[in-house]
Amino acid sequence: MKVEKLLHMAGGAGDSSYAANSKIQEKAILKITPILDEAVTEVHKTLLPEKMVVADLGCSSGPNTFLVLTQVMKIIAKQCRRLELQPPEMQFFLNDLPGNDFNNIFQSLDYFVESVRTEKGALCAPHFVAGLPGSFYKRLFPSQSVHFFHSSYSLMWISQVPEGLESKGEYASPNKGNIYIGKTSPPLVVKLYQDQFNRDFSLFLKLRFKELVPGGQMVLAFLGRKKKNIYNGELSSLWGLVSDSLHSMVLEGIVEEEKLDSFNLPFYAPSMEEAKAVINAQGLFDIIHMQMFESNWDPYDDLDDDFVIDNVQSGANFAMCIRSVLEPIIGSHFGASIVDELFSRFAMNVAKHLVKEKTKLPVLTLCLKKK
Ligand SMILES: C[S@@+](CC[C@H](N)C(=O)[O-])C[C@H]1O[C@@H](n2cnc3c(N)ncnc32)[C@H](O)[C@@H]1O
Repeated sequence: MKVEKLLHMAGGAGDSSYAANSKIQEKAILKITPILDEAVTEVHKTLLPEKMVVADLGCSSGPNTFLVLTQVMKIIAKQCRRLELQPPEMQFFLNDLPGNDFNNIFQSLDYFVESVRTEKGALCAPHFVAGLPGSFYKRLFPSQSVHFFHSSYSLMWISQVPEGLESKGEYASPNKGNIYIGKTSPPLVVKLYQDQFNRDFSLFLKLRFKELVPGGQMVLAFLGRKKKNIYNGELSSLWGLVSDSLHSMVLEGIVEEEKLDSFNLPFYAPSMEEAKAVINAQGLFDIIHMQMFESNWDPYDDLDDDFVIDNVQSGANFAMCIRSVLEPIIGSHFGASIVDELFSRFAMNVAKHLVKEKTKLPVLTLCLKKK
């Protein structure tokens, strides 16, 4: 799978688009607002830049893309009012892979600017917005040119499916029957995923270190793992329900078995300790803040407890979210014709799972300052 070419969320603004189904990710952006506030304020206060460059990495398209922009502009506006300073000129870069629906972003940009303009003071900074297609596992900016990086719900996507997971001739894939680390994955598969994450996250840190100005910061939020047992991690449960759904379609002859066996997600959900070990090994950033919070699968379930009110509705709600994330890569590997059936089976599998366990999405949040 060529991740750079194939990975993107469902574009447009229709019923199954990412734009219409990204409430879980919106909740994360809102949840980390205090951390964002502290980091952006600190960068502005210490550097007092006349021109401030901010980049959102893995911005996708839809309301969340603009939410991040709005948050940063409000923070700068508040800070400048407090210090009675002229606001800096703000340059925003919205980065994602080339398949992202950048057109949708730019078609909605005027609407976004208008909606912010009506909020008193929010637009006091002159601002410029540019799209930046490319992988964040490559250099994206000139040296020491960015003051602040933000990235939400993106860094668990690794740069490639780890090499060694593919089937070779008569040898089946070592991860046969799974699309991610699952209960039946051998230790080799876990190691291949962990090594790929370590390489990618190290590279990401090195690249951003070069691009940040001295004193620059980053706020990163991405899916992780809370459970100790890696075979039973929260994301393993979730992707296990997708592979169960695909497997049931193999049994009915709707999906070819080889297609399922050759499909693995370019994804890794690290524990807090794993992420911290990579940061410390690099030694390029001070960890200003590190926390994990959990989010319910059903974006409309705001209860903090382990009780599910309507498991069937929650299954349907969550299936819409996951469909908007997976549809492009599932469609390109298995064919678009299986997508409706797959996600209706997945919705039922989620509903059944939620009766047994209300699994949550662990989100790791980091604020890092360039040393
Ligand atoms: C779940 S979306 C999150 C979008 C948005 N930040 C939000 O919080 O709603 C993850 C995004 O990361 C992007 N992404 C994944 N790997 C990437 C990479 N290597 N470089 C740039 N973007 C990447 C995907 O294309 C996708 O749009």
